[in-house]
Amino acid sequence: MALSRITGLGYYVPDNVITNNDLTKWMETSDEWIQERTGIRERRYFEYGKDTNYSMAAAASRQALEHAGLTPGDIDVIVYATITPDYFFPGSAFLMQRELGMDGKPVIDIREQCSGFVYALSIADQFIKSGMYKTALVVGSEIQSSWIDKSTAGRNTAVIFGDGAGAAVLTATEDPQHCIISTHLHADGRYAEELFVREPGSSRPGRTITKEMIEEGGFNVYMNGNAVFKHAIVRFGEVIREALEKNGLEAGDIDLLVPHQANIRISDYVRQQLGLSESQVVNNIQRFGNTTAASVPIALAEAFENGRLHDGNLICLAAFGSGFTWASALIRW
Ligand code: COA
Repeated sequence: MALSRITGLGYYVPDNVITNNDLTKWMETSDEWIQERTGIRERRYFEYGKDTNYSMAAAASRQALEHAGLTPGDIDVIVYATITPDYFFPGSAFLMQRELGMDGKPVIDIREQCSGFVYALSIADQFIKSGMYKTALVVGSEIQSSWIDKSTAGRNTAVIFGDGAGAAVLTATEDPQHCIISTHLHADGRYAEELFVREPGSSRPGRTITKEMIEEGGFNVYMNGNAVFKHAIVRFGEVIREALEKNGLEAGDIDLLVPHQANIRISDYVRQQLGLSESQVVNNIQRFGNTTAASVPIALAEAFENGRLHDGNLICLAAFGSGFTWASALIRW
């Protein structure tokens, strides 16, 4: 059976740096509050006219393709995760496919929020394992800054999110020492409304978008921060242990954990539960905030750029997010 290997990584973050102090111009908050509760110092916001969701994804993908030594024409399928697409439909994967000149190649748009990239990676991995495709481009890209409510009313979520994109190229391999070992996916819709954006929903009377919906804040992110936090710290640990147990491995075997960048306190808790050192966990939330589906591939690509991925390393990706969803992937680098 074919296996899949990550042969290329890339990321793109907009140039526009927004510090915690910059946020105080729009809302009542402070650098101290944000750093203490989340670890975030700054994040990037897209520049209108320069960046789009799909252009950021294309930039990350070009880097990943170059790293893999491939051209867009070599890719068999695109799996693209985002909850902030350029259009309501079709998805941004179509726009990125056009941008990269990959006409005719299949594209799959998925959501799955903060777990989006790990879900997308799993989908691509299954396509390659089944023999249906030999190469895949897996992308996470988000523009959160145009959605979030930057007034004081939205401060509990506005301070967390940022924009960016990350991408990975997967190639078929027969080598079990350098491959995606396994992926593990979960969801629990009972908590769908603990972190969500209600509008523009289709199951509404009359027209989909009304002035009242906007005034009632239905387009804003609602988050029960406490509930998200409590579930996240449990699910991260669970899904990482599930991946290890499935493969007869232990936490001590992990060389590098690349968690979704939700909150530095969540990452620290999970790290301590697993008995990992600080140098074994990738944290870049300080500089990029939470970029939802883009956070894991940005963190992984940055870890590669910084020389933190070594031949034969056991790498664990893990994510938790709205839905709720949670997921992990074990990779032999
Ligand atoms: N600046 C200043 N004060 C703020 C604030 C901000 N940006 N956001 C909220 N506050 C205030 C609240 O109004 C509240 O004030 P009150 O006590 O007078 O009512 C106080 O700070 C505490 O708010 P609370 O929401 O209870 O804070 P918290 O300690 O739970 O921290 C989060 C909030 C969002 C940092 C935390 O819940 C969290 O990280 N949750 C997980 C979020 C996450 O990971 N989301 C991504 C999904 S993967």
